Amino acid sequence: MKTPTRSPTHADIDMSRLATMGVEVEEIAAPSAAGQMEVTIPALVELSEDRGRPVSHYLAAIPLGDDVKVAGTGPVLKVCAGSCQQWGALDMLEHVVERWQKHPSFQLLPVACLDRCDQAPACELHGDHGQLVLAPATKASLDEALDSLTS
Ligand code: FES
Repeated sequence: MKTPTRSPTHADIDMSRLATMGVEVEEIAAPSAAGQMEVTIPALVELSEDRGRPVSHYLAAIPLGDDVKVAGTGPVLKVCAGSCQQWGALDMLEHVVERWQKHPSFQLLPVACLDRCDQAPACELHGDHGQLVLAPATKASLDEALDSLTS
């Protein structure tokens, strides 16, 4: 796997800890009308507050399993929560959750890899317009993309 030439800026979450958090997420998931297991962002925020852990850690646990999706509608924002963690992906996820709480106009999809590892942290916004790649993503570029495509 290619990585950025920049040195990592963050530590990634221990895999066994992520797996445990994935189980906690499964426990609060519920089936959608279409039968897909879903977890809402408010439920994830509540879980993270109860357990005293960042909500981004729970989101990073989601791509480890196949079953649970984050509930939402609208354009899909894919955020790499794999090795991109070492280049700030968890900060991106925290920012995206804050943003979603103010404007729930998109669907968050944490993924294990976007095949843009050398441009970490990587995000993609998919909507009717097509696809916008944000790599390396910044909070400002994410806001700008969401502003232009979801308002
Ligand atoms: S680890 Fe591959 S794009 Fe993030």
